[in-house]
Amino acid sequence: MNITYNEASRTFHLFNRHISYIITILPNGHLGQLYFGKKLRPREDYAHLLEMVPRSMSSYVFEHERTLSLEHVRQEYGVYGSSDYRIPAVEILQGNGSRISDFCYESHKITKGKPALAGLPATYTEDEEEAMTLTLVLKDALTGVELSLLYTIFAQGGILARSAHFTNQGTEAVHLLKAMSLCMDLPDCDYEWIQFSGAWARERHPRVRRLEQGIQSVGSMRGNSSHEHNPFLILKRPQADEFQGEALGFSLIYSGNFLAQAEVDTHDTTRVLLGIHPEWFDWKLEPGESFQTPEAVMVYTDQGMNALSQTFHELYRTRLARGYWRDRERPILVNNWEATYFTFTQEELLDLAKTAQKAGIELFVLDDGWFGKRENDRTGLGDWTPNRDRLPQGIPGLAKKIHELGMKFGLWFEPEMVNKNSDLYRAHPDWILAVPGRRQSQGRYQHVLDFSRPEVVDYIYDRMAAILEGGYVSYVKWDMNRSITECWSAALPADRQGEVFHRYILGVYRLYQRLTDAFPQVLFESCASGGGRFDPGLLYYAPQAWTSDDTDAVERLKIQYGTSYCYPVSSMGAHVSASPNHQLMRDTPLHTRANVACFGTFGYELDLNRLSPEELQEIKCQTSFMKKWRWLLQFGVFYRLQSPFAGNTAAWMTVSPDREKAIVGWYRILNTVNPPYTRLRLAGLDPDRLYTVREGDRQLGQFYGDELMYAGLVTSDQNSGEALDGAEPSCDFDSKLYILE
Ligand code: DGJ
Repeated sequence: MNITYNEASRTFHLFNRHISYIITILPNGHLGQLYFGKKLRPREDYAHLLEMVPRSMSSYVFEHERTLSLEHVRQEYGVYGSSDYRIPAVEILQGNGSRISDFCYESHKITKGKPALAGLPATYTEDEEEAMTLTLVLKDALTGVELSLLYTIFAQGGILARSAHFTNQGTEAVHLLKAMSLCMDLPDCDYEWIQFSGAWARERHPRVRRLEQGIQSVGSMRGNSSHEHNPFLILKRPQADEFQGEALGFSLIYSGNFLAQAEVDTHDTTRVLLGIHPEWFDWKLEPGESFQTPEAVMVYTDQGMNALSQTFHELYRTRLARGYWRDRERPILVNNWEATYFTFTQEELLDLAKTAQKAGIELFVLDDGWFGKRENDRTGLGDWTPNRDRLPQGIPGLAKKIHELGMKFGLWFEPEMVNKNSDLYRAHPDWILAVPGRRQSQGRYQHVLDFSRPEVVDYIYDRMAAILEGGYVSYVKWDMNRSITECWSAALPADRQGEVFHRYILGVYRLYQRLTDAFPQVLFESCASGGGRFDPGLLYYAPQAWTSDDTDAVERLKIQYGTSYCYPVSSMGAHVSASPNHQLMRDTPLHTRANVACFGTFGYELDLNRLSPEELQEIKCQTSFMKKWRWLLQFGVFYRLQSPFAGNTAAWMTVSPDREKAIVGWYRILNTVNPPYTRLRLAGLDPDRLYTVREGDRQLGQFYGDELMYAGLVTSDQNSGEALDGAEPSCDFDSKLYILE
């Protein structure tokens, strides 16, 4: 890994074993983008990658130089209105009403390691030899605004992390109306665009289309990164697939409003923009004030989308997630939500915990309904004191009893919200986001606390800390169940209302930071009605997230498969729930529910006391299986093998880094009679190693890695639809786990 600067050609080259990223200083002082892709050999000059030809009807920078048009030159941080007509990366409203800026190179700095971004989550290094950072300092002479563009290249992986930092060094206030984290001009548009979209309980389904001339984008304006679209985008060559070919990934480490966009111009170049959604964003910069954008991460591979995902997994698992739980196997939990919803007594909770403990479950999580007058979702939110009618000795009383059973105890919070019917709202009606004189839109009977106000965040911190200081809580589920409407803060002046969405997220991050600092051993799981804020921003604070409120195993195949394009298995909360399932009323076999959930941070979310002794025995086997194999399941190298979006079967697998062990999950949606012969080609194994393959208690044989990868593992149904000779009959929603050692 290195970053070089060639003074004569005014060219920067950032490279490691995998990638090169090349920037040049253009004749007008702006930064030109020359190359991002597979590593190129070092050269002094890459000017041949800059295509400057005169074109009629183009606007030019200089009077006598018809080749330099910002419209045609690929740029690092595009501006609009001074010969570039594409959508820009930056927009600054000045005192005279102009929005034109002219950021020219001033200086640069090449440093080891990677600086932290104040108040924001970001990737990090543990040793400064792991990465190098180029800081390019540009200045807009007229306003005095200084722009620093940060580029970090890591020694491992085809990864580049980017962000932008603005400081107003002028004498007049300006308004930052747009400040993207990343602008990436690519020389062609021969890509497929893959976005990860959905809705509540149907999150992160990949959707693919060809890039076309014009603009395509996804984003969120909801205040949370959203169920609807994820701040993650893949551009892949049409011929690329999971195992080969070029793909680029763009991920934003942010939890609020975002925009991910690709603009293909009529010369077939592509501009990718990623950052805070500029709509409704207006950040006032008084002289001396600064603004830091969130970080965006770009990954390049020519090895297909599994390799792209594995690069993100490794980075986000080890250099974005932090703290005590980062590298630790996650506890098997039981959550009472789908078991009891709001209706429970302490006794019922303890009955559930006792059965859970006997079944080998390690952590009992008490979900919504333990505090204030929270008997349903219309009341009590914001009052973080235990409901004594339900928990006579409060949280310590219940938690102590759970501990006596030999289990850890976890608790649900929804820190950012309040019901109007709560003591908190009655005391502080101005603490919610709402526009004076306007109707307040509704969402689950609750309102959003104004987390742009430090005193609100501090108040909630004190309430949560008071509970956590009791010492018995080892896990927190931080939920968030409605998006922002009528975004307006009573604490900010009119010309700063455009800051509220971002300040809100900074408040969320501040609370997370304070809590994780004060309670470093508490395991945080983020949640937003399932996966409404499943983003890299929160992964920095909470190493796992509740993937979706849809706990149906078949739906979860799609959701977890889609989520895996960016996020590691160790980040995906996945539970075995009741059958029939509460979202879809679908009956699925218990083994399939576990076989899907075990590719995640595993748990149970059903009333165990309603199960038969045989089912409880099966769960006992599942938990001991999980304890034996969870390191490999949660931290192994993950491969997608067969897409649940493509047919009746799906498959994925995880391989230990030394390639000695692997687990394959195979799933069939509907049963088939007298079906075709099938084989599943595995991946990531050592071709020369002999693997013993087991499915449950049955040993299937010993096969070499090359056989399993190139000829495939035989998955044909041995019953052909008939259960002969006492064989286990196959069924709808069937699945198998294959263990390779
Ligand atoms: C939404 C979450 O996703 C559920 O798991 C549960 O915690 C409920 N909220 C509780 O209100």
